[in-house]
Amino acid sequence: MIVLGFESSCDETGVALVDSSGSRVPRLLSHALYSQIDMHQAYGGVVPELASRDHIRRVLPLTHEVMKEAGIALAQVDVVAYTRGPGLAGALLVGAGVACSMAAALGKPAMGVHHLEGHLLSPFLSADPPEFPFVALLVSGGHTQLMRVDRVGSYEILGETIDDAAGEAFDKSAKLMGLPYPGGPHLSKLAQQGDAAAFKLPRPLLHSGNLDFSFAGLKTAVLTQAKKLGDELENRKADLAASTQAAIVDVLVKKSMSAMTQTGLKRLVVAGGVGANSLLRKQLNDECRKRGIRVHYPELHLCTDNGAMIALAAGMRLQAGVEIANTGYAFDVRPRWPLAMSAM
Ligand code: KG4
Ligand code: ZN
Repeated sequence: MIVLGFESSCDETGVALVDSSGSRVPRLLSHALYSQIDMHQAYGGVVPELASRDHIRRVLPLTHEVMKEAGIALAQVDVVAYTRGPGLAGALLVGAGVACSMAAALGKPAMGVHHLEGHLLSPFLSADPPEFPFVALLVSGGHTQLMRVDRVGSYEILGETIDDAAGEAFDKSAKLMGLPYPGGPHLSKLAQQGDAAAFKLPRPLLHSGNLDFSFAGLKTAVLTQAKKLGDELENRKADLAASTQAAIVDVLVKKSMSAMTQTGLKRLVVAGGVGANSLLRKQLNDECRKRGIRVHYPELHLCTDNGAMIALAAGMRLQAGVEIANTGYAFDVRPRWPLAMSAM
């Protein structure tokens, strides 16, 4: 089965081809990505209307690129997959519209995929793929969740953020420090030169006794600290960045370890953009080693949004026997869509 997948939920246009023949993990044949970051940087964040228009510009040239790279003709595609949600409605509609029109023209089925399912299955494309069951720490710009995953389609939420996502905490704190969008990688880079113990910042819900997160208070604490520093902020920015990163990572690591204890599972999968953070990876690796837990990550370039994870998730769903609903190529998108409700 050759699956062509489209991702267009936010500010990255991704297209990919996987081969999900047989029962082995689907094989990535080719993928192409266009990031709109430079375009949105001027506005300090994603401008939805501009994002949609840019997806329209990029999606077909990227499709030609992946077909050419894989040496596959459109007629050989068996299923066309697309991100159905969650995400920006207009941006999602571009991928859904293109995927469903292409599927209709080819006379092949179209399959809507949950963006977070793509993220959490993305480590299956790595050199060291996980095995079920596992706990997933999903940390992206819009979501922060701990999940128990028993198989494809079985996603039980163990805890999630009650306000901001971890990526949002990185991005908003970075913005307060005058760093470019998206703040996460910039803040993380600056933090390398700073002292993580310089400022005492809150670790919200660390001792709440459950697996929920809260990051809104941290952002306020960073703002208060930045105001207090005034003109000194410029000289102390690296320290503030390091202290902020330490607070976010500390909470993510401790809650992940609590989830491992609670479930008794011995595998942890980390996915989503924040999963690219090197301090998070280092601390998780250290803690997991101590506890005899295997930890799996997506390849670094597949941590943030991409088409490969969408084609992969569709391929794995097909292998798991999920039937594709016949909608006669009518389609919709789900800007807000809980992962558990997308399950088979
Ligand atoms: O998964 P993703 O590409 O998009 C969503 O589905 O939201 O995640 C993007 C988020 C942004 O908040 C970005 O700042 C964050 O991931 N991010 C990072 C790093 N790389 C990306 N945060 C911290 N450290 C990084 N190295
Ligand atoms: Zn994402």
